[in-house]
Amino acid sequence: MMRGGTIRLLIWVSSAFCFLFGSLGFDPVDNFLIDCGSPTNQTVSNRVFLADGSYSAVLSPPQKIIAKINSNSSSSIDSDVFQTALIFTEASSYTFPISKQGRHWVRLYFSPFVHNSYNMSQAKFSVSAQTFTLLKDYQVEGGFIIKEYILNVTSSSLVLTFTPSSNSFAFVNALEVVLLPDELIPEGARAIGSKETEQSLSQLALETVWRVNMGNKTVSPQNDTLWRFWDSDYSYLRYEGVATYVSKPEAVNYSASPTKYIAPSSVYGSATMLDTKKESRMIANLTWNFDVEHGFKYLVRFHFCDIMSKPADSVIFKVFINDLSVSDSLDLKNLTSDVLGRPYFMDVIMRASDNPTMNVSVGPYSKDGAYLYPITILNGLEIMKISNSRSSLDVSLSNSSKMKLGVIVGLAVGVFLAIVLAIVLFLFYRRRGRARAIHSKTEVVMVNAEEGKDNNGTAMFSASKIGYRFPLAAIQEATDNFSENLLIGVGGFGKVYKGVLRDSTKVAVKRGAPQSKQGLAEFRTEIEMLSQFRHRHLVSLIGYCDEKDELIIIYEYMENGSLKNHLYSSDLRCLSWRKRLEICVGAAKGLHYLHTSSEKTIIHRDVKSSNILLDENLMVKVADFGLSKTGPEIDQTHVSTAVKGSFGYLDPEYLTRQQLTEKSDVYSFGVVMFEVLCGRPVIDPSLPREEVSLVEWAMKRHQNGQLEEIVDPRLAGQVKPDTLRKFGDVAAKCLAGRGVDRPTVGDVLWNLEFVLQLEGNDGRSDHASPVNNLETSTVSTAELSMGSVGDIAGVSMSKVFAQMVREDMR
Ligand SMILES: *[C@@H]1O[C@H](CO)[C@@H](O)[C@H](O)[C@H]1NC(C)=O
Ligand SMILES: *[C@@H]1O[C@H](CO)[C@@H](O)[C@H](O)[C@H]1NC(C)=O
Ligand SMILES: *[C@@H]1O[C@H](CO)[C@@H](O)[C@H](O)[C@H]1NC(C)=O
Ligand SMILES: *[C@@H]1O[C@H](CO)[C@@H](O)[C@H](O)[C@H]1NC(C)=O
Ligand SMILES: *[C@@H]1O[C@H](CO)[C@@H](O)[C@H](O)[C@H]1NC(C)=O
Ligand SMILES: *[C@@H]1O[C@H](CO)[C@@H](O)[C@H](O)[C@H]1NC(C)=O
Ligand SMILES: *[C@@H]1O[C@H](CO)[C@@H](O)[C@H](O)[C@H]1NC(C)=O
Ligand SMILES: *[C@@H]1O[C@H](CO)[C@@H](O)[C@H](O)[C@H]1NC(C)=O
Ligand SMILES: *[C@@H]1O[C@H](CO)[C@@H](O)[C@H](O)[C@H]1NC(C)=O
Ligand SMILES: *[C@@H]1O[C@H](CO)[C@@H](O)[C@H](O)[C@H]1NC(C)=O
Repeated sequence: MMRGGTIRLLIWVSSAFCFLFGSLGFDPVDNFLIDCGSPTNQTVSNRVFLADGSYSAVLSPPQKIIAKINSNSSSSIDSDVFQTALIFTEASSYTFPISKQGRHWVRLYFSPFVHNSYNMSQAKFSVSAQTFTLLKDYQVEGGFIIKEYILNVTSSSLVLTFTPSSNSFAFVNALEVVLLPDELIPEGARAIGSKETEQSLSQLALETVWRVNMGNKTVSPQNDTLWRFWDSDYSYLRYEGVATYVSKPEAVNYSASPTKYIAPSSVYGSATMLDTKKESRMIANLTWNFDVEHGFKYLVRFHFCDIMSKPADSVIFKVFINDLSVSDSLDLKNLTSDVLGRPYFMDVIMRASDNPTMNVSVGPYSKDGAYLYPITILNGLEIMKISNSRSSLDVSLSNSSKMKLGVIVGLAVGVFLAIVLAIVLFLFYRRRGRARAIHSKTEVVMVNAEEGKDNNGTAMFSASKIGYRFPLAAIQEATDNFSENLLIGVGGFGKVYKGVLRDSTKVAVKRGAPQSKQGLAEFRTEIEMLSQFRHRHLVSLIGYCDEKDELIIIYEYMENGSLKNHLYSSDLRCLSWRKRLEICVGAAKGLHYLHTSSEKTIIHRDVKSSNILLDENLMVKVADFGLSKTGPEIDQTHVSTAVKGSFGYLDPEYLTRQQLTEKSDVYSFGVVMFEVLCGRPVIDPSLPREEVSLVEWAMKRHQNGQLEEIVDPRLAGQVKPDTLRKFGDVAAKCLAGRGVDRPTVGDVLWNLEFVLQLEGNDGRSDHASPVNNLETSTVSTAELSMGSVGDIAGVSMSKVFAQMVREDMR
């Protein structure tokens, strides 16, 4: 599994070996460089690999076969150390005299060729050093490979043994044993994703499996302080579209720690960053994927160096491995004492999951939905495999052992599953029993509490009761004690479950994550907002629960889930263009009601396609008022507040100035409109760079008059050019940079109604759209399409609007 990587580690060999000068400066006391089988010394990257017989290591038994590559055979590798090899037909050991104890590098060079009857591509052998198995029944696949190991040598010699597998032989082209600078490998590191928080490494061996320089640049050994090769991150980066490569090696400023041995300035001086120019939109993780081997732990070293920020900027971001957080808020400025260009590295130990890919990510820091710092950066990454409990860095995967392993694993898994099942069943029944007991107790209390309020005791948990305070037991019953099977969503606030009340009313149950204080505020806001406002296009509150430490809100259940789901995240039937327009109209009505129905404007603050829900008739309702805020008083023009909301939808003006107006909702709504038109996510890092951000992409196409190219392909033939243009104009207006340039939701609504008119009545009419019932004959389509956003003041349109508003204000 490691092989692909190791080969990549070596691509430099053919091109780089001819350089003679490098930034050396490191002169270790133990420094054995051996060109096996060679009659002459070879100089490689300013280092001399000694000929057989010239070195002080002892080979025993001394018998071996000296092989030299046939000069007639065409070899793609012109490195001199790969031209010769030693072949061992029995177990053979090199003994290196060690003058200083501590971490040493053992590097093994393999480049198979054919020598007489020895075809080295077929050689199969194991290599061990001290008590560690470095390679087990290993066969070199492909051209050439350098394997790199790190061993803590605690005696006065290091013994390296090559053992041929049965009926085979071993070989090696060159090898290195080199003492490392003390600071290079720590004695232990923080562990994540396991019980221990700290793990010692001092007794363990390591193998470098990935060594990557960020910034789309390889670093060759002669440009490294310790002759390491750093591969370019290009082929590991998952989504190139969100990345920017930067290089500024002169900005690197070393201090006492870390030294340039940790990584050279060519590594710290280049980086891959999230695109800073578009920080308001490029909210995504930068992720690199690496193959790892299940069953092993890995030491992952992150190299950071802030070579880009301005002195006043904070540089804070998040770091993940797989889905686990390595750092919630890595404050690089703080960690480097505010010295620009000072390197910083961080080690963590992580066990490989079942998944053969390890995903390393850095992502923007966010707090309460706000993304405040523009710089997210990674400069280098090293991934080292840690020897397992059997002191091995390799597990043999020969067929027979694989099968045996399979049987054992199968058995183990079977037994394990049986035990787990038994435990789960036990807990389940115990819990159910307990829940039942609790329920019957609280029920009595409830009935009593009910009496004062409502004589109709039978409809106890009825949907008709607004703002009703539910007992926890009733909610547990409705959701099968928050069964994961009933989970329908997970949001910032917590999890959302489907539930069924006693009277068969289906409900959506939003259960707050227990810890957050901030959650409490949002919880209150949401209940207040919901009980205050009732509208056909706003999701209604059924009740809530604040018993014990629970914060639970119960809403009407929306059978058809979110608009987002229907647009692109499932294989649900595709919504027709007409249906999509009707949904936009409905959502705009809901928002319009929020903005206008009371003296104070209510700003939703989190308008997005996943908060626009559809009931069983595809009637639309806006949901999630947790972030809602009362808007400005008459004499103010904005509410100043911490930035909250969802990325991709956030008003850039709000983001930069933290000023909230109802026009922020309009911006978000414009984003939703383009989502509806294009049927794709707001940020899709998997797309080519210029298409990653829906807003940028759609705005560009709109400006160039190429909107038809970005219409959801599933709508082919459904969207009339007139309506497309009009719809695009409205959406683009909503996305104006300045709030004052955006239309009001009322304007948007009016224009959307108009677009629906333009579409004509040939589609299925729907109750969500009162406009369908009005005659449109007085104004011709052509006349109307002349107008631009906000200025279609045709009499009949005003009539439409007035009627619609009246209807909705009820
Ligand atoms: C290789 O270099 C070593 C050390 O400089 C020297 O002792 C030895 O004689 C050289 N061997 C050959 C074959 O040149
Ligand atoms: C290399 O090729 C030449 C002729 O092409 C031949 O005479 C010579 O024996 C070959 N050498 C080896 C080592 O095979
Ligand atoms: C050596 O072995 C490899 C792999 O088994 C094979 O592809 C290759 O043809 C062999 N070469 C010779 C000269 O037999
Ligand atoms: C090497 O092992 C020795 C003895 O166990 C230990 O004291 C030392 O800290 C280890 N060195 C490193 C770099 O882990
Ligand atoms: C990154 O490197 C790859 C391969 O060397 C190259 O094809 C690509 O154009 C580079 N990208 C940038 C943005 O420099
Ligand atoms: C070393 O890096 C510098 C700049 O980073 C570059 O100009 C030089 O060509 C590199 N040298 C080698 C041998 O790669
Ligand atoms: C490097 O950092 C030191 C502080 O550690 C500072 O005094 C010095 O000016 C910096 N050098 C450069 C070139 O910025
Ligand atoms: C980054 O990845 C983490 C872990 O997978 C995830 O929780 C987070 O939402 C991602 N951030 C963004 C902006 O996509
Ligand atoms: C890593 O990302 C890939 C997608 O590129 C995904 O298939 C895989 O499950 C992820 N691995 C882990 C351990 O999360
Ligand atoms: C880093 O953060 C710690 C804790 O917040 C603080 O005490 C320290 O002064 C900060 N250091 C710098 C250089 O900002």
